[in-house]
Amino acid sequence: MSKEYFYITTPIYYPNSVPHIGHAYTTVVADVLNRYENFFGKTTFFMTGTDEHGQKILEAAKKSGMETMAFVDKIVKEFQDSWKALLVNPNKFIRTSDPEHIKVVQYALNDLFNKGDIYKKGYSGWYCVSEEIFYTEKDLVDGKTPTGKEVIYVTEENYFFKMSKYQDRLIKYINENKNYICPESRRQEVLGFLRNPLSDLCISRPKSRVPWGIELPFDKDYVTYVWFDALINYISGLGFLERENNDFNNFWKESHHLIGKDILTTHAVYWSTMLMALDIPLPKQIFAHGWWLNSESKKMSKSEGDVISPSSVCETFGAEAFRYYMCRGGKFGLDVPFSIDTMKERLNDELANNYGNLVSRSFKIVEKDFEGIVPSVEIKLETSKELIKEEEKLSLFVKENIESFNIDTAVFEISNFLKKVNKYFGDLEPWKCKKQGETQKEAECLYVTLDALRVASILFSPILIDTSKKVLNALNVPSDERTYNHTLTFGKLKAGSKIEMLSPIFMKY
Ligand code: MSP
Repeated sequence: MSKEYFYITTPIYYPNSVPHIGHAYTTVVADVLNRYENFFGKTTFFMTGTDEHGQKILEAAKKSGMETMAFVDKIVKEFQDSWKALLVNPNKFIRTSDPEHIKVVQYALNDLFNKGDIYKKGYSGWYCVSEEIFYTEKDLVDGKTPTGKEVIYVTEENYFFKMSKYQDRLIKYINENKNYICPESRRQEVLGFLRNPLSDLCISRPKSRVPWGIELPFDKDYVTYVWFDALINYISGLGFLERENNDFNNFWKESHHLIGKDILTTHAVYWSTMLMALDIPLPKQIFAHGWWLNSESKKMSKSEGDVISPSSVCETFGAEAFRYYMCRGGKFGLDVPFSIDTMKERLNDELANNYGNLVSRSFKIVEKDFEGIVPSVEIKLETSKELIKEEEKLSLFVKENIESFNIDTAVFEISNFLKKVNKYFGDLEPWKCKKQGETQKEAECLYVTLDALRVASILFSPILIDTSKKVLNALNVPSDERTYNHTLTFGKLKAGSKIEMLSPIFMKY
């Protein structure tokens, strides 16, 4: 059987200050999608990292009074520690200061320069340091960027990439490849943007003004524009220069860039045209998700002064609860209001009640009435048969939704399945059965419930990494039976094995 590949990336983040909820969102979702794809049997690669050059970083370092590289190293460590705390496990953490990355940036610059796709000219324009983007006079709204950020006027000679040359080809590509930019509303947004003529992209900064960057291989007085440098990470981190001898091509064909909607143009337009010019196929997909919004329905951001620190949420609720809320918070692709109250509600209803309580209640009865041994049964009741049908449909549904990045729908369905199991359990009242002499009914109800918990726990394992393991260990499910295939059929739980009692697996808030 030929191997199936999957490659997922997050944007690489600016280490100008500590990670916030927006960074954590993309990163946790990418980690979860990657773990699911791996669970479905694919060979996967997940990369995140940091975007370390440019004026924004330079200014932040200056402000801190530290030497630039030392400042960056310190914040990068905070990113890495945060991801560890959130149980995020990338295959690679790329830094744009990595020598391998720098080599690929210089390769790309040389290639485009030699092809005549890079030229030098004098230029004046408005520059936004916070976004690291140039604007023309007509782009500005009340003297600021469309999102309200400050700009400075800059006049200088720079190098330009002939982005405009690729405009028609890009429009054609986006029209012919409907899943290239997702969701559909974002695809339309990019097509709308491309209705106006594209200008060429300024890809350099004079070293005299911005010394913090990768030197242009053909002019040592300049460094590379930070977005040109950063976007290259998606190929440099995969081992682009050694692509004849590694899995680069296999992974690249199955590449997905997960980004926030505010950085759509840089990916859909800059990156796509850069790849066209470099004669590298475009990634398989660019998926732009929405924002977490504050109580005033604005993007949560540092400038709004209301950023939630993922580590503080994590300290209060635990990494798994945070991961669960990130995935289940709202329709993936749309904006979502961030609310601690909604988060508590979800955790209480879906994790503590639907999942945790069911584990406690069913385990306790097995211990009391069956000496802790999983009963062996024949399925007789209609209600059991109906639930089993639901169980056997669940994993396929989860797979289809994960593969189309409907992560919230997939998670909702697992939780909803557990709700149905709770109803089944409540209706059959197994705690009354022994007294009433209904041993078959009691055993059947418990076996069906425990097997449902087995499947739900396996399916939750990419999100609730430790807890699902705890439940599966308690149920004595061997590690090699925790695969996708083992979730497709009912009854894989071994009757006759002893289960281990657990203290409550989730707290209530
Ligand atoms: N360095 C660039 C990306 C280069 S990728 C080649 C960058 N970095 S960033 O540190 O500003 O991080 C941006 C990411 O965080 C974006 O995907 C952005 O959408 C996300 N978020 C920032 N605030 C957000 C929310 N409030 N909600 C969700 N995500 C948001 O841009």
